[in-house]
Amino acid sequence: MREPQPLSPRQSASARHDDTVARRDFLNLVAGSIAVVGAASALWPFIDSLEPAADTLAAGAPVDVDLSPIKPGQQITIAWRGRPIWILRRTPDELKMLQSAADTRLLRDPDSAAYQQPKYAQNWHRSVKPEWLVLVGICTHLGCIPNFEPLGGASSMGPGWPGGYFCPCHGSKYDLAGRVFAGVPAPYNLPVPPYNFIADNKVRIGENPQGSTYDLTEIEQI
Ligand code: FES
Repeated sequence: MREPQPLSPRQSASARHDDTVARRDFLNLVAGSIAVVGAASALWPFIDSLEPAADTLAAGAPVDVDLSPIKPGQQITIAWRGRPIWILRRTPDELKMLQSAADTRLLRDPDSAAYQQPKYAQNWHRSVKPEWLVLVGICTHLGCIPNFEPLGGASSMGPGWPGGYFCPCHGSKYDLAGRVFAGVPAPYNLPVPPYNFIADNKVRIGENPQGSTYDLTEIEQI
């Protein structure tokens, strides 16, 4: 397995050009705000294949990620098209919480009615496999990078927190399926990128399962 590589300056410039919303520049996060990713996260881990040329990657080529080193409850962050992509391995307790009223009563769009995910992730867990959550880690309010606040002792969110993400910019909250809370500034659930399992423990970010043509450019908000 190849070691993960930070984006080159050329990749960075290309990615920024492609992303019309400069405030969402993930590379700024990498340069100055790694701490907001969260204590249980790891940055640039486990990118299993970077075989495409650097220019091709910057243009949006799929990225393969080996999931086998990720422990239950752990989240990693990789870059795709200059954006942070979170991959979280949810625990059985977290999956149970996602289906409970303790979580769903807090949410604006618990059924993911807004077009923020492909059909293959329009379900209670907003993913292909319940255990694995794959999200674009960009707040749907004004584009900050929310903090990972897991369920249980590692979270600083206080009693009743169902696990999820907290955006420190203006206080938006999301659960561990990326579903936005009611009464916060963010209007939509966090986007799900196109992705596909190419093996039991390997996911390809940027490529849909066969038969789907889902594209992030079509969704309500990114
Ligand atoms: S950018 Fe996240 S709450 Fe405003």
